[in-house]
Amino acid sequence: LKVGLAGLGTVGAAVARELSVKSELLAERSGRSIEVVAVSARDKNKDRGISLEGIEWFENAVALAESPDVDVVAELIGGSDGIAFDVVKTALERGRHVVTANKALVALHGVEIASIADEKGVALNYEAAVAGGIPVIKALREGLVVNRISRVFGILNGTCNYILTNMEATKRPFTDVLKEAQDLGYAEADPTFDVDGIDAAHKLSILAALAFGARVDFDGVYCEGIRRIAPVDFEYAAQFGYRIKLLAIAENSEDGVIQRVHPCIVPINTPIADVNGVSNAVIAEGDAVGQTVYEGPGAGDGPTASAVIADIVDIARGLIQPAFMRPASRLAPLQRGDLSQRVGAFYLRLGVLDRPGVIAKVTQVLAEQEISIGSFVQRGVTEDGAVNVVIMTHTTTEAAFGRALSAIESLSEVVEKPCKIRVEDF
Ligand SMILES: NC(=O)c1ccc[n+]([C@@H]2O[C@H](COP(=O)([O-])OP(=O)(O)OC[C@H]3O[C@@H](n4cnc5c(N)ncnc54)[C@H](OP(=O)(O)O)[C@@H]3O)[C@@H](O)[C@H]2O)c1
Repeated sequence: LKVGLAGLGTVGAAVARELSVKSELLAERSGRSIEVVAVSARDKNKDRGISLEGIEWFENAVALAESPDVDVVAELIGGSDGIAFDVVKTALERGRHVVTANKALVALHGVEIASIADEKGVALNYEAAVAGGIPVIKALREGLVVNRISRVFGILNGTCNYILTNMEATKRPFTDVLKEAQDLGYAEADPTFDVDGIDAAHKLSILAALAFGARVDFDGVYCEGIRRIAPVDFEYAAQFGYRIKLLAIAENSEDGVIQRVHPCIVPINTPIADVNGVSNAVIAEGDAVGQTVYEGPGAGDGPTASAVIADIVDIARGLIQPAFMRPASRLAPLQRGDLSQRVGAFYLRLGVLDRPGVIAKVTQVLAEQEISIGSFVQRGVTEDGAVNVVIMTHTTTEAAFGRALSAIESLSEVVEKPCKIRVEDF
């Protein structure tokens, strides 16, 4: 099986290395030899720690995708559009199998490119696009095939999980820990996609399409990042028996599927609360199997190459299946559920002026929306000299909490933007 690698960065170079070092093992396991015959990247002279001897170099990655000498094109460049999209589309149109690690591309153009793959009878595999080294696409597409999935959720962004874990452990603010993550290579120079939840939303939309048999609906994901979380939130959460995680959740509701990415307060004794550092975890709940939990490294050269190569080996073994479990033409639009009807409890941290009557006003607003208070803590002063007030509500709806929050924000005594975190009792 002749492989062309478009992109030789962190992932591409690791794929080239593993395919070379493990060539005998892979030939035994897949029943045929797998060989890299073509590569493309921007800089031909960069030392990538791998030998490119005897491998054809393409200045233009699209020309690699067009090459008749290549059976499988692995797109390892990145980005939802531009060169990555051109490479994948061209390869599929030419009847080449495609393997990609590119979640942005699959989230935004998954159905379009899956249609071309169907038409040409070739594979479009993207295991590495979601949760890095954890074979979660395979689990949903194959292992859980008989199940009706009611919910799939997890920690899908290692950068955010690293930041939250370290903020909790060291009590340092978000900006400090983000800087450290950047220095260690866990976060990009522009961290927006990670810390604002967009990367997790890309991955969630792919999982939801598979789990619920629908078109990928990235625009339908509600998305909130972790910038508003402060070190004190971890202390308060711990006091109530909880921990803070950025979760991506897709679940069936009465009127459709709700997809959401946001910080969550989760009970300390649940499996998801124990996933720390750059690790990822996915939990899928099916009617036949019940709850299944997958955990492991969600990024990095080795783990991502492991997933990319598993996709290549599937092709070597002749396992060609529709990208989203059924032909793209038979995927209905995802029926969206109404997030405002979601029922759950909330954690709310307010910075308020130290004046008599403030708490009464806040509780009055909550009472007007029929929201009762489970716990209440008032302790310490904020950087601006305001008093920190933390409230854990009882169960309410998103809509009612949203109305209460707007009213609380407009109180003159509330001097900082409130921090709200949803409580998820999985
Ligand atoms: N890194 C991870 O842990 C990880 C995990 C899961 C998924 N992914 C996904 O894997 C993909 C690759 O990520 P990465 O971390 O390996 O990125 P990377 O280190 O930045 O590598 C990107 C590669 O693409 C090449 N490239 C850029 N523009 C090109 C062009 N116009 N023509 C040909 N080659 C071009 C670069 O060439 P030069 O080397 O010459 O600059 C580089 O080799 C992305 O979709 C990413 O989201 C990454």
